[in-house]
Amino acid sequence: MSETSLDDAQIIADFSAHVNPALAQVLQFIGFTSTEAQASGCIVRDSTGREFLDCLGGYGTMSLGHSHPKIVEAAKDQLDKMAFSSRVLFNAPQAALAKKLAEIAPGDLQFAFFCNSGAEAAEAAIKFARITTGRKGLVSAQGAYHGKTMGALSVSGRDKYKTPFGPLVTDVRNVPYNDIAALEAAVDADTAAVLLEPIQGEGGINVASNEYLQAARRLCDEKGALLVMDEVQTGLGRTGKMWGCDWAGVAPDMMLLAKALSGGVVPIGAVLGTPRVWEFWNDAPLIHSSTFGGNPLACAVGLATLGVIEEENLVEKSARAGEILLSRLRETQGRYPELVQEVRGRGLIIGVEFPHEDITSLVLAGLAQRDVLVVPYTFNNPTVTRFEPPLNISDQEIEWAATAFEEAVAATAELLVGVTEM
Ligand SMILES: Cc1ncc(COP(=O)(O)O)c(C=O)c1O
Repeated sequence: MSETSLDDAQIIADFSAHVNPALAQVLQFIGFTSTEAQASGCIVRDSTGREFLDCLGGYGTMSLGHSHPKIVEAAKDQLDKMAFSSRVLFNAPQAALAKKLAEIAPGDLQFAFFCNSGAEAAEAAIKFARITTGRKGLVSAQGAYHGKTMGALSVSGRDKYKTPFGPLVTDVRNVPYNDIAALEAAVDADTAAVLLEPIQGEGGINVASNEYLQAARRLCDEKGALLVMDEVQTGLGRTGKMWGCDWAGVAPDMMLLAKALSGGVVPIGAVLGTPRVWEFWNDAPLIHSSTFGGNPLACAVGLATLGVIEEENLVEKSARAGEILLSRLRETQGRYPELVQEVRGRGLIIGVEFPHEDITSLVLAGLAQRDVLVVPYTFNNPTVTRFEPPLNISDQEIEWAATAFEEAVAATAELLVGVTEM
């Protein structure tokens, strides 16, 4: 680990005293004792100049890498014109981004509501589903993660984060993921929406079967419910296709976006919806709104992000890089099957499952020692860690990550032999 400078020590002390003491302890336990100072591409530099390979990428936000020059330029250009909207005149970047999203989204998702985060998008979709159908019921999956605001939390799947905050939004059924029979039993004539992630990110990289997503589509059609696909983490090429739901050839009634649409530079969230869903706005055009949602700065950056994804073939790159990384990580699994239980994923959303969360911690610490940042625990499944690097990660960087993983697992295996021999 790098030295902790006097300045870093003060920053960590301030974070501990004024932001989150428990988190400060966890991060220091893993071995993070310096502060991030600068980043470009897949590399994050700390205050001492030490370079880390970012395979965490803001939980799947950095699809274009840090500080992509075209995104920074788009942000600067828009800043020079205007950053935020007056909210009365028409806003060109917002209209252009909505139009482009309508072009590339699956099915008939012609409209967009813009907000500032994934959780806000989930909140909006819950409201839109209820007003459109006149029903209350929401069906979501165990292990799901849609955010931590009240509505988004209510349809998420881990009691640890939910129970202390009740009562939450009512009429939610949380059913086992990838279980068609459970879905069939839960969706009925009062279901407004079924909310699903095509791959559960925080749930531990659980990949939906094509049949499951197709069954969800069919059930929603049969029962008059709306299908909401949460592509906050899986969208925009992360899975090796433009949309996670493309794997199953399923088009939802609403789609949630955030994370990578920001270009890694300006936060943004969005709900895309069909003309049928958008009808409710006709009676009250301001029935749902957000002061910062759709601001010119975020939308100009979002539009530039879609441009870079196309120009640099990032969807194809994600598919190829994902195959290489997955197979390299599986080589390590083959050598240490008792420690690495499973390696799974699609494209560059890859989960590694260990038999116990303490082993996850040891491997994470080993990766940090080798300058590789990975997702430190998935929120809803602490035995799983994730690799979600930028989609333009180079072959050398993949090798760096894979070698560090192999060494970290080997070191953990040695340590555990030592412990059992004591
Ligand atoms: C699938 C999914 N939906 C929603 C969210 C919430 O997004 P945010 O943290 O921007 O509120 C996340 C965040 O990790 C997510 O992975």
